[in-house]
Parts: sequence; structure tokens; C-alpha cells
Amino acid sequence: MIPNLHIFETPKETAKAVADLILAKAKEKSKLSMPFNLALSGGSTPKLLFSILSSNYSDLIPWHLVRLFWVDERCVPPTHEESNFGMTFENLLTNVPIPDVNIFRMMGENQPQKEAIRYQEIIENQLPLKNGMPQFDLILLGLGDDGHTASIFPDNLSLLDTQHKVAVSKHPQSSQHRITLTGNVINAANEVIFLVTGTSKSEVLKLIINHLPHFERYPASYIHAQSKLPEFYLDKAAAEKL
Ligand code: 6PG
Repeated sequence: MIPNLHIFETPKETAKAVADLILAKAKEKSKLSMPFNLALSGGSTPKLLFSILSSNYSDLIPWHLVRLFWVDERCVPPTHEESNFGMTFENLLTNVPIPDVNIFRMMGENQPQKEAIRYQEIIENQLPLKNGMPQFDLILLGLGDDGHTASIFPDNLSLLDTQHKVAVSKHPQSSQHRITLTGNVINAANEVIFLVTGTSKSEVLKLIINHLPHFERYPASYIHAQSKLPEFYLDKAAAEKL
């Protein structure tokens, strides 16, 4: 089965499509008077999405119902330039009326193993369980040019299928420790989307989406949502080899 591809001319149009999806999903939950449990990735790609959400969706999304979690975090303080929370705070959280109590930050400043345990308890207590697994409404993933997603890297595929729901990983080049949701939690989500832009991702996307030789080496190849395959939101540059 081929994942669902949504391809747009520019990164801005791609990010806007994801913003519209978040709006639609949040409204769906709002009609049920239920929270919208959303897990965000970090890195650089989401910055444009956050900027669009801040400028055009601040008054549209029922932020009081949005509960924000993180897919992964670098083991640095939230004020550090590499902090995913710090990036999200600067580009989104300071601009939208989301209550502080709805923000469930991974604490990169904590001892990594203790934080993995702490965060696992948070998602177990704060999310509905489906077959014993905490279930997010939507998980936003990015894609590294080495095929990693979340902070699950090609040299540690065991994190895709472990009984741990949150784990400590290590960036293969920088050796920076990371806190990350594991594959089983990601795949238990009601919906998973990849937001991927730029030509640097085009080669790995081609391998993963077309299941070309050695696609199984890439963590993103193992991601599927509870009810269906992940949706890929791509600009033309990222999709140029598909
Ligand atoms: C992180 C992310 C990671 C990211 C990819 C893509 O903490 O870095 O969660 O999985 O999504 O590395 O990063 P870019 O968006 O910077 O290309």
C-alpha cells in the first residue's frame, strides 16, 4: 500500500495544508467537547507551520482544547538553541492562547533516563489508552535525510518495537542524548503525518515511499497510524524523485 501523498508547490503551502488539518481535527474534537491531543516534532521544518498557526490560526483553533506533547526532545535546557520546546515556545506558544496546563513539555534538562520514565507516566496518565497504549489524536513527524524520525535513528531500530513508550536515544553523529516517543506509541496514534520539505529529503523519501532496496534500514519506513498509513505532506522539492 502506498502512503497518502499531499504535494504542494512551496513549503508555505505545505505548512498551510498541515495547519488546516490541525484546525479540522481540533474542531472535530471540539464538537465532541473533547481535548485534542497533539504531539509535535522539533527540528527546523515545523517553524514555518508554527509561524502560520501563530499568524492565521490563533483565533480559529480552539486552543483551550489543544493539549500539546512532544515527539522528542534534545537533552538540553529549554532555553538552549537546540531545544525543541524552546523553538516551539518562540515560534508558537508565545503567540497563541493555549493554557499552560495544556502544555506537557519533555524536560531536556533532566537526567535522560529519569525524564523518559517521567514522560512515559505523563502520556500513560494524560492520554486515552487503546490496547494498553496511550493514543494521540495526531502526531506530527519530520524526516531526517538519514531516514530517522522522532529521535529514532537507523542505528537503533529496536526503539520501533520496545515495551517502553518513551526512551533515551543518542544522535549518531553528535552523540547528543535525546528523549523520544517509541515506535509503538507513534503507531498507536489515531493519525500520523509527516511534514517534509526541501530537496535534501527527496532521496530518502523515494526509498521509503517506494520500498526500494534497503528501505527497511530507515526508521520512518516502519511508521503507520493505528487506522491507516501515514499521510505525507510534501513540497515539490521533497517529492521531486517520487
Ligand atoms: C528533532 C526532530 C527530528 C526532525 C528531523 C527533521 O528533534 O530533530 O524531531 O525527528 O523532525 O530530524 O529535522 P528538520 O526539520 O530540521 O529537517
